[in-house]
Amino acid sequence: MSRVALVTGGSRGIGAAISKKLKADGYTVAATYAGNDEAAAAFTDETGIKTYKWNVADYDSSKDGIAQVEADLGPIEVVVANAGITRDAPFHKMTPEQWHQVIDTNLTGVFNTIHPIWPGMRERKFGRIVVISSINGQKGQFAQVNYAATKAGDLGIVKSLAQEGARANITANAICPGYIGTDMVMAVPEKVRESIIAQIPAGRLGEPEEIARAVSFLVADDAGFINGSTISANGAQFFV
Ligand code: CAA
Repeated sequence: MSRVALVTGGSRGIGAAISKKLKADGYTVAATYAGNDEAAAAFTDETGIKTYKWNVADYDSSKDGIAQVEADLGPIEVVVANAGITRDAPFHKMTPEQWHQVIDTNLTGVFNTIHPIWPGMRERKFGRIVVISSINGQKGQFAQVNYAATKAGDLGIVKSLAQEGARANITANAICPGYIGTDMVMAVPEKVRESIIAQIPAGRLGEPEEIARAVSFLVADDAGFINGSTISANGAQFFV
């Protein structure tokens, strides 16, 4: 029987590419989304991948949603915590609301996604966890104090989980995408985006499929010794 993979924010952008790649690899995929019913329905029509609607920022919704996925498809053995938002503003203009929205979704949302799945992974002695962080969690970014804090925090989560899960054959790794051609990056003002692309040695934005490729590598059954690592995929824009 094929392993069940959960991808949060899995019906659009990088998440959609991850869902499709994992399906092509033979996983049974469940993709979550927060609000865009139309995009989710179109995604299911196109791919045959089941979608589930819940807000990752809410623990009880995540727990109930995960229980539903497991009732429908079986135990979740692969989880890709991908859902994320931006609320960019220079720090002097950033509101507490912008801070909390991003922390709740990008950081607490990762906790809420992994925590209900973790006991089952421990019992079954198998799990593959990938958290989608960001180049901006590695280097910081003007107007992203909130977002950069969450993406740096995501790296702390995987490094700690890696140590806790290793004996139970559970791995936790992070991917730090650079600037990828998704709605999130396209929302950056065009002039600013052009100046960002000028800083990427590859001379282009990345493709969502280039991130999905890295996920596929990390979640494989024979990737068990790759644990607590961070893969950068940013067209050589930044090195740690
Ligand atoms: N470095 C230094 N200064 C910068 C700057 C930068 N990167 N970007 C803007 N500035 C300066 C401007 O030159 C301007 O200076 P002046 O006032 O002297 O002219 C000032 O900051 C802009 O101030 P504003 O009050 O006009 O800013 P604003 O309130 O309109 O906010 C912004 C504009 C939100 C910063 C907008 O420029 C923006 O969205 N920038 C992009 C931020 C970014 O890269 N976000 C990443 C999104 S993609 C993503 O997050 C995915 C991922 O993981 C990679």
